[in-house]
Amino acid sequence: MLRTHTCGELRAEHAGSTVTLCGWIQNRRDHGGLCFLDVRDRYGVTQVVVEPDADAAARGEAQRARLEWVVRVSGTVRARPAGSRNEDRATGAVEVVADAFDVLNAAEPVPVAVTGAERSSEDLELKYRYLMFRRAELRDALLRRARVNHAVREHMVSRGFCEVETPSLLKSTPEGARDFVVPSRVHPGQFYALLQSPQLLKQLLMIGGMDRYWQIVRCFRDEDLRGDRQPEFTQLDVEMSFGAESDVQDVAESLVHRLLREVAGADVPRPFPHVSWADAMSRYGSDKPDLRFGLEIADVTEIAARSAFAVFRDVVAAGGVVRAIAVPAKHAMTRKDLDALPAVVVDRGLKGVAWTKIASPDWTGPAGKHFAPELRETLRSALGAEEGGTILFVAGPKEQAVPASGDVRLHLGNLFGLRDPKVFAPVWIDRFPLFDWNADENRWDSAHHPFTAPVEEDIPLLDSDPGKVRAKAYDLAMNGLEILGGSIRIHDPALQRKVFTLIGLSDEQVEARFSWFVEALRYGTPPHGGFAMGMDRIVAVLGGTSAIRDVIAFPKTTSATDLMTGAPSPVEERQLRELGIRLA
Ligand code: AMO
Repeated sequence: MLRTHTCGELRAEHAGSTVTLCGWIQNRRDHGGLCFLDVRDRYGVTQVVVEPDADAAARGEAQRARLEWVVRVSGTVRARPAGSRNEDRATGAVEVVADAFDVLNAAEPVPVAVTGAERSSEDLELKYRYLMFRRAELRDALLRRARVNHAVREHMVSRGFCEVETPSLLKSTPEGARDFVVPSRVHPGQFYALLQSPQLLKQLLMIGGMDRYWQIVRCFRDEDLRGDRQPEFTQLDVEMSFGAESDVQDVAESLVHRLLREVAGADVPRPFPHVSWADAMSRYGSDKPDLRFGLEIADVTEIAARSAFAVFRDVVAAGGVVRAIAVPAKHAMTRKDLDALPAVVVDRGLKGVAWTKIASPDWTGPAGKHFAPELRETLRSALGAEEGGTILFVAGPKEQAVPASGDVRLHLGNLFGLRDPKVFAPVWIDRFPLFDWNADENRWDSAHHPFTAPVEEDIPLLDSDPGKVRAKAYDLAMNGLEILGGSIRIHDPALQRKVFTLIGLSDEQVEARFSWFVEALRYGTPPHGGFAMGMDRIVAVLGGTSAIRDVIAFPKTTSATDLMTGAPSPVEERQLRELGIRLA
């Protein structure tokens, strides 16, 4: 190695030793003949001093060197006097007094800020992503990610799971997103689909008797992007045979518990709480609730219907719901806070958020005056609302008002500073519905994916009332993000066929899309189930962010472009010809 130590290694006990460091110049101060330089590598920053009586060549090179040049410094470690130590830096007790100084590579001025509080524009930071690894934020995120990967491997291996790799070039897989397709040159006019998840492949591994499978796998989905979604992302994918929901959940929960402890230093009590999907929607307006804070939502439709408020009465008359959040007095809401609420729900197609303050002698605000004194007491005790507090109302059709009330709750969590990134609140959401009604196409859709098993006692409802069938599906949510999802699968070919029929797949369509899988179900399928964890999301949450781009080495923008390489981009005419493709 060109160095004896890294730039993060030297401590007071190294004083007197001769060392050689390599790294990038992150800072330099020139006091006439005396030159201080901070030299940085992945491991830290060390102060180097080039003194006036140093070797002339070394002094010359140190004078010439500029920020972000790559240098090699040899010298003696010296303890810094008490007053001039840098307590914020692991190496802050020492400095290296240089007697040799080599420039290994000069650098042009870098186009993005790689140190300091000031940040460059997001586009520039994505274009020069490789320079951002020099910043502590991204470097630490990648190190955290590597730690998570390592712990995941250890965990899965220790539990007897076998790592199996599966292909990315495949036939369309049913995760419900749009496929990325790859044209075949050998078979012009035919396409592969990039893997959306190894769902069916891992089920085949179970049919084959592999018993316990895991893989860290890249998945591709052509969907609208958000902070927690990328077109390619990474899953920890797991499947096991002969286990119940609780067995699969134990594998996942013990892993997440371990990651919280080892990577985030948080000791979260087990077992994690379970909330049914129906409860989560009703109490938190979300299937991935943030349980770091309360502010639960209550349905007050019946009480609101008895008020004189035309807005509520109209909503209820049209079959809608009125949902309320009681904000305790300690979270005083200013007029400005209240005026900001309509913007929170406008994306859900609602006009506003009505409110009232529980003041005496009278309730103030647009909603309160429409409640007669007796009704006020009913409302107040239904919500457990206190004197001096505020009641917020979200009214509208159920499909809009429920998630909108969840958005308001999260908004309040942010407003009152209740979403501490160092606090972790994992929660299992289970008993999802098996189907969602697709009003556009007048049929059922699988809420999870079509291989999810129904709860046994609900199987008769498949014939009479499919909307009421609950699934043996579960998600783990943490701090408002869906971290992982999974289910027990259907292992009975007849039941699988019935589910396909309900989601409107004809025998011909099943034959064309999944015949290879449906046939496999007939050759001795063990009861099985599993889960997939979003690796990007867990690494993000553990680091206190929800933006997965911050924990991906080379991410895409929200419009799915790679600003560094310029992908996607046109291909040569010759390539298209070979593939038998003509652009419209
Ligand atoms: P699902 O589609 O819920 O389930 O995905 C599992 C987990 O993967 C993460 N995730 C994503 N992360 C980043 N960007 C995306 N576009 C994205 N989409 C999903 C989430 C999610 O919880 N085969 C099933 C799992 C199973 O049933 O075993 C599946 O893929 O954290």
